[in-house]
Amino acid sequence: MSLPYGVDVTVPSVARMYDSLLGGHDNYPSDRTAVEQLLERVPSMRELALNNRAFLRRVVHVLAAEYGIRQFIDHGSGLPTQDNVHEIAQRVDPSSRVVYIDNDPIVRTIGGVLLESDENTAVLQADMRETDAIFASEPVERLIDPEEPVAALFVSVLHCIPDSDGPAELVVRVADRLPDGSMLVVCQLVSESPQVRDFVTRFMDEQTQGHWGRVRQKKDVADFCAPLDLIEPKLVEVSAWRPGPHEVPAQLSWEWEEFGGVGFVRR
Ligand SMILES: C[S@@+](CC[C@H](N)C(=O)[O-])C[C@H]1O[C@@H](n2cnc3c(N)ncnc32)[C@H](O)[C@@H]1O
Repeated sequence: MSLPYGVDVTVPSVARMYDSLLGGHDNYPSDRTAVEQLLERVPSMRELALNNRAFLRRVVHVLAAEYGIRQFIDHGSGLPTQDNVHEIAQRVDPSSRVVYIDNDPIVRTIGGVLLESDENTAVLQADMRETDAIFASEPVERLIDPEEPVAALFVSVLHCIPDSDGPAELVVRVADRLPDGSMLVVCQLVSESPQVRDFVTRFMDEQTQGHWGRVRQKKDVADFCAPLDLIEPKLVEVSAWRPGPHEVPAQLSWEWEEFGGVGFVRR
């Protein structure tokens, strides 16, 4: 598969580093070197990524199986991996529809081949801040019925949105566009230690030339979730969010964690 024009694979990308952490193959030496260096300093990073992805899988299953959600908009979806959102949702109901959104051109190229496996799934290359353009896009107009509940996912992506671009306002903007009965999923990397926040933020931004973002605090995630009526267990470290019978909440280091929850959009 040829690379999209203009992609510089000597600079690590957020999507490809995350893919490498999850054990995927859609990454390059620059991404793997950056991940190795990060793991030397913060060895729990891989576990954190795996926990995050397992959370996403559980959430999508619960939303589809217990809450009857059949439409998903996945902001910052990342590269295809095992058990993507449409596969989980379509195991519950094959007619489930998913629009994946990511601004990384490699996600569009690889995702377009692997994720658009049926007419109910689409990949849109877009900046998730462009809410109006996203809701007016062909895939959203074709796949998302504005009369039926939708789940909008912001799973481990809001760290990429600087405070100056209003991550909380982005969540409100999307929530306002969704029909009654819709749900939102929000989680973000947090630490209550200023040293950890500074180190990870600086390291990742150096690696990705400023594209990675920032570690925040739990209170910021609570702010992002202000437009939601959170369902149980409300806001938690994500491996503790409704773990399956064979899953043990597994967080090695409490210095930093992926923290979030799921809720109904409040009207
Ligand atoms: C850490 S990955 C999370 C992937 C997936 N949501 C998950 O939790 O498994 C973050 C993703 O957000 C994407 N991303 C970052 N900033 C974005 C933006 N402004 N608009 C759309 N996607 C963005 C990156 O390209 C990357 O694929």
